Amino acid sequence: MKKDSGFLVTVLTLLLVSGAQAKDVSEGRGFEHDVPAIFSFGDSTTDPGNNQFIANPGAAFLANITPYGQSFFDRPTGRFSDGRVWVDLLAQGLGLPVTAAYQNPATRDYTKGVNFASGGSGNFETTKTNLEAIFGGRTVTNILEQLEQFRLVKSKLIGCLGQKQAEVLLDRSLYVISSGANDIAWGYLLNTTMQQVYSPDVYTTRIINATYDTVLALYAEGARKFIINGQNPIGCTPANVGRNDGTCFEPANALCRLVNSKLPALQQRLSRSCPGSFVVYTDNYKFLEGIVKSGSAYGFTKGSVACCGTGPYNGDVGGCGALDANGAPVYNLCSKESLGEYLYWDYAHFTEKVNKLQTGFYIYGRQFVKPFNVSTLARS
Ligand SMILES: *[C@@H]1O[C@H](CO)[C@@H](O)[C@H](O)[C@H]1NC(C)=O
Ligand SMILES: *[C@@H]1O[C@H](CO)[C@@H](O)[C@H](O)[C@H]1NC(C)=O
Ligand SMILES: *[C@@H]1O[C@H](CO)[C@@H](O)[C@H](O)[C@H]1NC(C)=O
Repeated sequence: MKKDSGFLVTVLTLLLVSGAQAKDVSEGRGFEHDVPAIFSFGDSTTDPGNNQFIANPGAAFLANITPYGQSFFDRPTGRFSDGRVWVDLLAQGLGLPVTAAYQNPATRDYTKGVNFASGGSGNFETTKTNLEAIFGGRTVTNILEQLEQFRLVKSKLIGCLGQKQAEVLLDRSLYVISSGANDIAWGYLLNTTMQQVYSPDVYTTRIINATYDTVLALYAEGARKFIINGQNPIGCTPANVGRNDGTCFEPANALCRLVNSKLPALQQRLSRSCPGSFVVYTDNYKFLEGIVKSGSAYGFTKGSVACCGTGPYNGDVGGCGALDANGAPVYNLCSKESLGEYLYWDYAHFTEKVNKLQTGFYIYGRQFVKPFNVSTLARS
């Protein structure tokens, strides 16, 4: 990967400014806010383990196997990381518990919020049909289905708290939307017809419009405080780098940057369409790209090789946790001592260390969250 030293200096400066604050994000900082709950929508970046509870004949996008979860939960929970996903850390940063999986039958209390996110999901039906064709059967819960689930949760909250108290809770809660990467990876880049029908510009605007529609649907149900998570550089995942001679797959990154470039206008459009709402968007791309290129900030030395997995760069999809016919592990796993050097836990998902840094930037930072940070949003 080519180094861009000017860019690198900028990134390192940003890291120094906001870095010290990021470390203890999960302990919270005790600032005053009145956010009672977090409702989370999206894909594997925020999935707390929903896919293991749904009929999934294709057995795709599961992370409920050892060694997932080893760093924090001491067991696999279905989260695509060695520990918590960033929305868990956000919740803890606000003094709430880690997020609960909506699909888990044990999840019955919604008064602290609930997490609907489903690994592999996207905004479009075509993303899902493409996945179903590849993996053979129903796999994921997409954003429109997650919205339906939220409406059920709302009616249960009204049932248990009463109309007025439920409305106050929904009004003060945070709504996280972290979606779109799979529409790019599985919906667009793997479907050549799609690429002929939609230019990158039009397709990324469709993703932006889908997020606009999601926020409007939530707003209509009483939601007011939104966090829209920008796209990561998905061309630099171990899966993509492993397939691309050790370099980032630029077409995927270009689509992600295009989505991110349209977030400021989306934020303004939403603020106009939703009076009384507060919308922030994040940009994890710059932070991650800087680390992938520099490979050294924060002790990260492993840019695009995963800690856990099989194949080049440990990038085989589903390699982490794979067993042979006798039940013996066939995957590589980095030592616990070296885990802190890795950005990627598996073929596409970050280590908890990265998730912590990311969340710290979102709550307290300035560079990667606009137009203001989540600590400000929480107090709005
Ligand atoms: C590929 O894209 C086309 C055009 O949008 C769509 O009609 C088709 O269903 C997609 N294929 C799959 C397998 O999803
Ligand atoms: C996105 O939404 C805007 C506003 O509704 C609309 O004018 C535009 O045609 C949409 N673009 C696409 C590609 O769907
Ligand atoms: C971000 O958070 C910090 C700490 O809470 C706060 O002092 C600062 O003003 C915030 N910055 C922005 C741009 O909102």
